Amino acid sequence: MVKPIEIVILAAGVGSRMRSEKPKVLQTLGGVPLLHHLLETVHDLNPIKIHVVVGRHASEIKNQTDNRMEINWVIQEKPKGTGHALAQVVPHLLLESRLLVLLGDAPLVKRETMEALVSDKSDLVILTTKVSDPTGYGRIVREGGEFSEIVEEKDTSSSQRLINEINTGVMVINSKKVGAWVNKITDNNVQKEHLLTDMVKIANHEKATVSSLEVFDSSEVQGVNTFSQLANMERVLQKNKAERLMESGVQIMDPTRIDIRGTLKAGKGVVLDINCVFEGQVVLGDNVLIGPNCVVSDSKLDSGTVLKPNSVVEGAEVGKNCSVGPFARLRPGAVLGDDVSVGNFVEVKKSVFGVGAKVNHLAYVGDSEVGAGANIGAGTITCNYDGANKSKTKIGKNAFIGSNSSLVAPVSIGDEATVGAGSTITKDVKDGELAVGRGSQKNVAGWMRPKKKD
Ligand code: UD1
Ligand code: CA
Repeated sequence: MVKPIEIVILAAGVGSRMRSEKPKVLQTLGGVPLLHHLLETVHDLNPIKIHVVVGRHASEIKNQTDNRMEINWVIQEKPKGTGHALAQVVPHLLLESRLLVLLGDAPLVKRETMEALVSDKSDLVILTTKVSDPTGYGRIVREGGEFSEIVEEKDTSSSQRLINEINTGVMVINSKKVGAWVNKITDNNVQKEHLLTDMVKIANHEKATVSSLEVFDSSEVQGVNTFSQLANMERVLQKNKAERLMESGVQIMDPTRIDIRGTLKAGKGVVLDINCVFEGQVVLGDNVLIGPNCVVSDSKLDSGTVLKPNSVVEGAEVGKNCSVGPFARLRPGAVLGDDVSVGNFVEVKKSVFGVGAKVNHLAYVGDSEVGAGANIGAGTITCNYDGANKSKTKIGKNAFIGSNSSLVAPVSIGDEATVGAGSTITKDVKDGELAVGRGSQKNVAGWMRPKKKD
């Protein structure tokens, strides 16, 4: 019979090497806290129980964890070492399971690797890898071909320090044995901590079956102790995401210059130029082109749309075949119909644009409804805020707003209506009317410019 899988994630350490107030497992990787990466992966293993060991940051970590997942939070009052952390979980364990222990600060372990580990029947299975620089990691010591122990960096002899096969910190334990084994761990070592790694020696001493599994791509099992390691890991994660997108047919101009901090779904024929950041949930339809230096957050861009360089799009929905940018800003609630054009230095907030509407230069459109085919001239401002309240502007179908106009909301411009350039519009304009709201021009013949004084 296949034994159920139980998960333990150790996340109670203080993360002192980051010198940060934030608990290490809440530092973000790909825009998501470290802990969430592991939780998502283990979820796919259908574990019977997930235990997460947390310390003094418990409530902060709980608050920032997706509550759709059922987690047994276990408190470790003081971080006395990884062995002590696991000991706190023992009273909560089921009688018979394959217990998969993960470190909260090694978040990229793949599901396939976890599956291979739990399917090994040994009482203790350690996941190892070989690295060119083993500094900081526990070393895998083999004597006469037998896996005899793990020695932490601080406890190594000078010859052990040269060993480049290291402990990833990930292991599977027969849950029946774990209670007795953690009780035997002492703090008799240089760091005066209860080291989980001592389990290998203890299990061997009892003649239990101990084995190891080597993962060949060590980037998968990297641990994060410093911001420098976190930055390296970010590149590993981004490279994986970029590879997956390229495999699905997305053209990425330079996969080392893209950041996806969330989920990016892209259709066929999509091209992503350099230095773009995608945050939250972003959906790009077929043939969407994203120019260099764009930031797109929680938005949907439909097929054939072009986002030109240096544009920022947040919480927006853009229709088919639109042109946005360069240097455009779409803010939350911007909803553009098909064939809309939003040009340079234009800001759009909480406004709905009908099919084919245009606002091409230097404008602010907020809390507005813009009819299909309307043209908003350069420098137009919807004055939506009176210092206390926000009001709406309605611009009708095929309306033409002359350049440098101020539309003082609440105000409505009718279908096919025209606003003369430089107008300040404070009263509604009916369908088809021309509204001119500016001082009329006076020409003074024979006027002399003042002369310069000596
Ligand atoms: C640990 C391993 C080391 C391995 C490395 C891989 C031990 C003793 N050492 O070292 O062999 O090569 O990971 O990355 O296991 N934690 C607690 N409570 C504690 C201490 C730590 O929950 O009292 C948690 C931390 O939050 C962290 C994880 O355990 O998520 C690992 O702790 P850390 O101090 O980072 O161990 P390393 O020194 O990296
Ligand atoms: Ca670590």
